Amino acid sequence: MISEAFKTVFDTSPLVTRFTPGRVNLIGEHTDYNGGLVLPTALELGVNLALSPRSDNKIHIHSDKFDDIAIRAISDTATEHWSDYIVGAVIIANETGLLSGGVNVAVSTTLPFGAGLSSSAAVIVSILKAGRELNHGQHTDTEIAVLARRVENEFIGMPCGIMDQMAVAIARPGQALSLNTETLNYDLIDLPSQHKMVVMHSGQFRRLSEGRYKVRKEECDAIKIVLGHNNICQISDAEFASLSHLSAPLQRRAKHCMTEQRRTVKAAKALRDNDMQTFGALMNESHISMRDDFEITLPEIDRLVEDSVKLGALGARMTGGGFGGCIVACVPANITKMWVQDLIKVNPQSFFVC
Ligand code: GLA
Repeated sequence: MISEAFKTVFDTSPLVTRFTPGRVNLIGEHTDYNGGLVLPTALELGVNLALSPRSDNKIHIHSDKFDDIAIRAISDTATEHWSDYIVGAVIIANETGLLSGGVNVAVSTTLPFGAGLSSSAAVIVSILKAGRELNHGQHTDTEIAVLARRVENEFIGMPCGIMDQMAVAIARPGQALSLNTETLNYDLIDLPSQHKMVVMHSGQFRRLSEGRYKVRKEECDAIKIVLGHNNICQISDAEFASLSHLSAPLQRRAKHCMTEQRRTVKAAKALRDNDMQTFGALMNESHISMRDDFEITLPEIDRLVEDSVKLGALGARMTGGGFGGCIVACVPANITKMWVQDLIKVNPQSFFVC
């Protein structure tokens, strides 16, 4: 229990404890900073946090993943230490009245490391929501998610979109969050009970901050300048044709954004209609677009996705920022156990997440 861990380390009970889920994105990849739709769902796995305020400006952090206690301050800058996400969240919480001064924090996670299942967004949102609870703040969950993105963009230097923060702040397991990332309007769609969205780790570990995500973001920024607006996802066929003078890779990036948006709109409708055949087919097309047009997959992941479908999934795709991490597959519930075993047999480096 996280409150026990907190008590052992800080010798007193925490004032707030909370659980924030991780997320898996079902479809709509790299659309969230290009004005598009995303369709993530919350996981049962996530981050447990216990927190109490301190009377000074220090931040003392204990994590179940590390032996030492990190001692930081609210005047700190990012140092590429594991505690940066918490420090950044405490700083933004102080700037926005969610906290005042330092905190003691204990954190533990059931999410696998380097999986792209939004453990960092979950940690940040946990701190901000804990601050809101402690100080009876009026921020909505959407406002919390926007602040959490600021921690990533401004403190950590990771130029991510808003999907992860909205998903972990708002979504619940068993429901997909259909989120318009331009307006932040959303609705929740029930996932079908006859199919499972199975998350498998590819065995390829990744770190978004390594820079390859940033390169894609910069490529999209270059396309936006040519278009004269920020919404690559909503371009028409004619507008896409007008980009033919761009380099071939930039044209492929724009094509992914445009087609992924159309697929995600159709996928949300298929989910509402409980049409999982169509949903699965769109997942497969999304993977091909990430492989050939956005070029963010790895051969090992392409193979895992192909085998997933061969073994009976209705559809499968890499999920998250790319270059490693997890796949998500839509599998008939009655064959899931066998499917997981068979997939691991032919891809021994992969493992079941949830
Ligand atoms: C990461 C980012 C998100 C989103 C996805 C790709 O998870 O944090 O904002 O861009 O990659 O869809």
